[in-house]
Amino acid sequence: MIRRRLLAALGSVLVLSGCGAVGLSVTPVTVQDFTNELVVPPLAESRVVDGTRIFTLTAKQGRSRFLPGTDTRTWGFDGAHLGPTLRAERGERVAVEVTNALPEPTSVHWHGMHLPARMDGGPHQEIPPGDTWRPEWTVDQPAATLWYHPHPHGVSEEHVYRGLAGMFLIDDDAPVQLPHTYGVDDIPVIVQDKLFDTAGQLELADDGSEPGTLGNVVMANGTVGAYRDVTTERVRLRLLNGSTARTYSLGFTDRRIDLVATDGGLLDAPLSVERVRLAPGERAEIVVALTPGDTTRLRSFPVDLGDVAAPFAMGGNDAFDVLELRAAPELASTPPPSWGPSAHAPNDALDETAVATTRTFELQERTINGQRMDMSRIDEVVTIGHTEMWEVRNALPMPHSFHVHDVQFAIVSIDASPPPPDLAGRKDTVYLEPNRTYRLLMRFDDYPDPATPYMYHCHMLLHEDEGMMGQFVVVLPGMPAAAPAPGVGHGGHHD
Ligand code: C2O
Ligand code: CU
Ligand code: CU
Repeated sequence: MIRRRLLAALGSVLVLSGCGAVGLSVTPVTVQDFTNELVVPPLAESRVVDGTRIFTLTAKQGRSRFLPGTDTRTWGFDGAHLGPTLRAERGERVAVEVTNALPEPTSVHWHGMHLPARMDGGPHQEIPPGDTWRPEWTVDQPAATLWYHPHPHGVSEEHVYRGLAGMFLIDDDAPVQLPHTYGVDDIPVIVQDKLFDTAGQLELADDGSEPGTLGNVVMANGTVGAYRDVTTERVRLRLLNGSTARTYSLGFTDRRIDLVATDGGLLDAPLSVERVRLAPGERAEIVVALTPGDTTRLRSFPVDLGDVAAPFAMGGNDAFDVLELRAAPELASTPPPSWGPSAHAPNDALDETAVATTRTFELQERTINGQRMDMSRIDEVVTIGHTEMWEVRNALPMPHSFHVHDVQFAIVSIDASPPPPDLAGRKDTVYLEPNRTYRLLMRFDDYPDPATPYMYHCHMLLHEDEGMMGQFVVVLPGMPAAAPAPGVGHGGHHD
């Protein structure tokens, strides 16, 4: 099956490379009129009981109107598509009552969140239809744009693609001068691409294309051809690539942007960039400056995927608009972005000289270190309190993005060089250009649990579902890992 896919991908390379592949695309995106107002997911309601902020989410089926005159069957949290934005502060105790009203099991993973493995919502915490699962934890990490999505074994691609995804924003005590009024000058933008069949229903390509389904309809928060009225001189966009396979290069043709945060939180200082590359799972917060009466479009430009075999067959040459910004004739003044450190900052520091363990991960076609995901195998055993270096390499000329649960890491180097400034902040997911070695520094501070693993995997969801995932447990010093399922030992530990 996988070999067939790879051959199909390589087949299209051979066919197309004969006819001048520059600028060519086999996965073009349809041009839209930008006439639909951007839907902004509502902030989730919550109640505080005995000091715990409690949210509720229900995964359910619904119908959405993406294409004129057509109802598309979708899945969503609380509504028909996507989900509300959860928001909490560092130090808060939170709980989420997640009800599965779908006809099949799902799970809800808190992507980017530092929390106990039992609360993580991975494939070991599936929720049967009709059940409610109630994870609870204390938020303890810097302000960041995180997200939540299903992670059921082998079918995450389908569950996310049908519409199950939402944002989880964390605030902290850092004194920031950034647009921060949700839905006014601080706006989530979930970018996703879809394919529709002739009946207007969502379709996943099963044609062997790599790295998975590359849709011809691109939406922001589920709005196709979206525009947004802007009333302030600067607007903060919290960009999430919630696509299953497509990597974007987002920016504007007529202005630079300030990149202020990546997956795990703020950069050291705002960074003026032209574009930001986002692979599936990655986030970036940008601040865009507008002048009165301005109209401009957030656009995805041809994206440098590194040394992949056939960029034109993997979305690399596609260019298309995503969201139109329309500035009002008068704009409220907004100061330029700047911020000071949070009082927690020293606790969050990572120290390369403290590395106790180095692990290597080689990503191949659908395997990591030659193995496919096995729910009953623990691949890595991490000792609590340790700082670790994970050396990750994409060994094949196809796109992968590498995600680690539980922690936010720092990219220390890419090959022999320090990371570019846009990759110098905290990350939980990173696009892997083929044949480069990414050294990721991370520390495992708490939540020992020898029996419940966290995941690391490719965030291109077809790859993940087809086995490109491994499991690690965090244990107290000297504590062996327990098997997560009967009759299985542990292995793969090599410090
Ligand atoms: Cu966003 Cu393991 O996933
Ligand atoms: Cu995750
Ligand atoms: Cu992959």
